[in-house]
Amino acid sequence: MDTSNEVKIQEKYIAKVKKTNEGKKLKYNILTMGCQLNENDSEKLCGMLEEMGYQRTEDVKKCDIALFNTCCVRENAEDKLFGKLGELKKLKEEKGIIIAIGGCMMQEKHITDKIKTSYPFVDILFGTHTLYKFPEDLYKSIEEKRKIEDIIDIDGKIYEDLPIKRDSKIKASVTIMNGCNNFCSYCIVPYVRGRERSRNPRNIINEVENLAKEGYKEITLLGQNVNSYLRVEKEKNIPFEEYNGVNSFASLLREINKIDGIERIRFVSPHPKDFTDDVIDAIRDCDKVCKLVHLPLQSGNTKVLKEMNRKYTKEQYLELVSKMKNKIPNLTLSTDIIVGFPGETDEEFEDTLEVVEKVKFEQVYMFIYSRRVGTPGDKMENQIPEEIKHRRFDKLKKLVEKQIEENNKKYVGKVERVLVEGKSKNNELMLTGRTDSNKVVVFEGNNDLIGKAINLKIVSEHMWYLKGEMI
Ligand code: SAH
Ligand code: SF4
Ligand code: F3S
Repeated sequence: MDTSNEVKIQEKYIAKVKKTNEGKKLKYNILTMGCQLNENDSEKLCGMLEEMGYQRTEDVKKCDIALFNTCCVRENAEDKLFGKLGELKKLKEEKGIIIAIGGCMMQEKHITDKIKTSYPFVDILFGTHTLYKFPEDLYKSIEEKRKIEDIIDIDGKIYEDLPIKRDSKIKASVTIMNGCNNFCSYCIVPYVRGRERSRNPRNIINEVENLAKEGYKEITLLGQNVNSYLRVEKEKNIPFEEYNGVNSFASLLREINKIDGIERIRFVSPHPKDFTDDVIDAIRDCDKVCKLVHLPLQSGNTKVLKEMNRKYTKEQYLELVSKMKNKIPNLTLSTDIIVGFPGETDEEFEDTLEVVEKVKFEQVYMFIYSRRVGTPGDKMENQIPEEIKHRRFDKLKKLVEKQIEENNKKYVGKVERVLVEGKSKNNELMLTGRTDSNKVVVFEGNNDLIGKAINLKIVSEHMWYLKGEMI
């Protein structure tokens, strides 16, 4: 599906806004509330804004546009957005700034209704499918001085070559697919991001090749379910152009692995149910693909997994882990876990702890179940009281922290390859980087090492970082 004309129209709007803004030195502030996909979307919004002549400021009081890129996967993001909007009201009255809100939360009608009634001073609302049209929405808001609501409920197309201003010069995210077809019963994402659709292999490979030429060293491939890349297209006979033999996630990994200059390839998130052998073999064979795999567990109990609509059992998850560990030397795993899903008993929760004990994850992202309007989970009757959810969360957290402490010890005395990312935030004199397994390493070194992959000896371990020395 060629969308280049739609993108060209937006380029015209970018030029128009740029002309209106000439000489005004306008600034924008952006708050990104979501996952890495949302961050990648924000980088595109920043790209558009900078081409329109705006400069970024971290101080919201100095901005002419305040932009929010929202997430709705859990409830706390809503409280945060409404709190921030309350704070902005005064700035709006004093300076007449433009307030724009985009992202996943805008695909929820009860939220946009609330904004329109309780925060009527917001200028632009746009959804996940209309992000590419932000220049047009902004132009209309400025020129026609009216409120803009640009939200559609049909799956957005894939728009290539949007402007982009990336956060880092070393690590870059590349979205390979949009949407999700899995409908896990707790999750809002399929409703706000639409159905799964993959980018053409050629466009992804070209993007990574260009990133390599610009000096980027690490690429993270993004999607809600990356290991089903191009699956819907194949199943539904939607035409896509095979490029250099790429027609699946495994072949995409192999092709990107060939690109000179790229040192590391990561990907999030794969789904355990789609972890086919060709993907496991590609991870094993590709030297640049990091041996840390994020494998979302969500629950370790088969009944809860069934209720969650995850499509695997506890045993299947554990079998997959042992198959991967057997095939891929030095494999490490990270995961996502939800505690307190409706109906989860103490006993069932113990299964989750048991899987954590067994797998020994490198990192565990833990979440307390949050009811999402419109999902099957929200309609389930046996919701778990907050107090029990918190008690389980604390128990899991204790176990995970104990394991991380244990696990960190294995690094001490070892030599690790570290991609140096920059100066340490806490200590200007130190540099910081990450291992293949995504552990932060802090060490003393020259600034010219930034952006290079070097070997460091790990001398001590701390809860959230390791200390290294040059060798
Ligand atoms: N597509 C990815 C991640 C989606 S959202 C995947 O399947 O892994 C990231 C994480 O948020 C999920 O893995 C899940 O652990 C958590 N999450 C999603 N919905 C949630 C909810 N309603 N309450 C609590 N955590 C949730
Ligand atoms: Fe949500 Fe499940 Fe899709 Fe992940 S796979 S985005 S958890 S529905
Ligand atoms: Fe949140 Fe949307 Fe990502 S709901 S987790 S920002 S896809």
